[in-house]
Amino acid sequence: MDYQFPEGFLWGGASSGPQSEGGSTEGDRVMSEWDYWFSKEPERFYRQVGPSVTSDFYHKYPEYIEKMKAAGVKSYRTSIQWSRVIRDCDGTVNEDGIQFYNQVIDELIRNGIEPMMCLHHFDLPLYWVEKGGFENRETAYAFARFAAVCFGRFGDRVKYWTTFNEPVIIPETGYLYQRHYPAVCDAGKAAAVGYHVQLASSLAVAEFRKSGCDGKIGIIINLTPTYCENPEKAEDRRAAEILDLIFNRSFLDPSVKGEYPVELKELLEAEGILPEVSEGDREMIRENTVDYLGVNYYHPRRAKARTTVYEGPLMPEKYYEPYEFEGQKMNTSRGWEIYEPAIYDIAMNLKENYGNIPWYISENGMGIQDEEQFMGADGMVEDDYRIEFIKEHLTYLHKAIEEGCNCFGYHLWSPFDCWSWTNAYKNRYGLLRVDIYDGCKITMKKSAHWFRKLSENNGF
Ligand code: BG6
Repeated sequence: MDYQFPEGFLWGGASSGPQSEGGSTEGDRVMSEWDYWFSKEPERFYRQVGPSVTSDFYHKYPEYIEKMKAAGVKSYRTSIQWSRVIRDCDGTVNEDGIQFYNQVIDELIRNGIEPMMCLHHFDLPLYWVEKGGFENRETAYAFARFAAVCFGRFGDRVKYWTTFNEPVIIPETGYLYQRHYPAVCDAGKAAAVGYHVQLASSLAVAEFRKSGCDGKIGIIINLTPTYCENPEKAEDRRAAEILDLIFNRSFLDPSVKGEYPVELKELLEAEGILPEVSEGDREMIRENTVDYLGVNYYHPRRAKARTTVYEGPLMPEKYYEPYEFEGQKMNTSRGWEIYEPAIYDIAMNLKENYGNIPWYISENGMGIQDEEQFMGADGMVEDDYRIEFIKEHLTYLHKAIEEGCNCFGYHLWSPFDCWSWTNAYKNRYGLLRVDIYDGCKITMKKSAHWFRKLSENNGF
């Protein structure tokens, strides 16, 4: 074995409630922002495939769990949909939703798969969207009440909790780049939303501490290490630093260290968009840091100082330009750079600057368009590119672990093909293929067999 991982290392898979469950009107579930957006603007979604069925996990979860087990998945990270568990702004609990998640958690445990539950994966119930979503501070308190219900109902069996998945995506794509609802471009609102999301996460951590649950609570952050074109040039370094502050440290620092970077405050102040802080917020954030981190890693960022004046509406763009270079590896289906050494850089950053906090890879994966072109005569997808992608990333993770980083698991996005926001089923990520035009028939890809060996051998 060239790359042996520490004993007990969690080889798992990650998905989310809204991207896998479907059954969007069943069990008295109420509308979420995605159901609503699809009903209003279906043309925004790839081939107009919306979130109502997705991978039909709602009905087929026993089969999914059985097949994930066959693929060597030892832990499954998904999310509990707020819109399935809480019916309204008053916090009325939906017992059907509770029963569904109880069944899923029990079935995972029966199959020897560790359930890891996240409480928010880009999905807000419509009743809070109508009240302004995270623009409204009240939503943060409502989130903490929802979290408390989940700790109370599932905390006896779920030992790994996370508050938010990729919290920065909420302001980034909803309030700057217009890829998620409400698709506006307003840097002031983005800053306020980001702040309220952090507050919501800290309030939920506080609820967790009160609940007496014996598990651990964390947050999942998508880290995009930012490299500058010429490290010798102070302006290039500054451009990368600004992106790092906005996209990485805006959640990493308050979640792990309990405070925002001074440089971020100065930046937002200079822009005139520093969010309003209420009495007690600082203490709430300082006293409720996380036990561990989930790290989603897909791609780095590349920055150099602007060579032209930017007059558009996007705040970060004022400060930088992206750069490309010869030999840059791309996942052309997704348009993301593939840069494996960044995993090592992330690990060293967490070790050196964040107290070597325990963390795991909560997402990493390879989305491929028209994957059926790689199907062999026997109907199996021969996804060698995915196996290579995983191996190459694991090589750098292994090196970081050898050098003392505190990583306890690797979760592939995703154990099975699942729906993706406006991209719907354009890019397939799974170890298991899901045929959405054939009743969500589930078959193993070549990578599922390989992943099973990886997990059994605890290395490759
Ligand atoms: C992550 C998200 O950023 O990337 C997932 O947490 C998402 O929800 C995944 O599906 C892959 O991105 P995409 O857009 O190709 O589905």
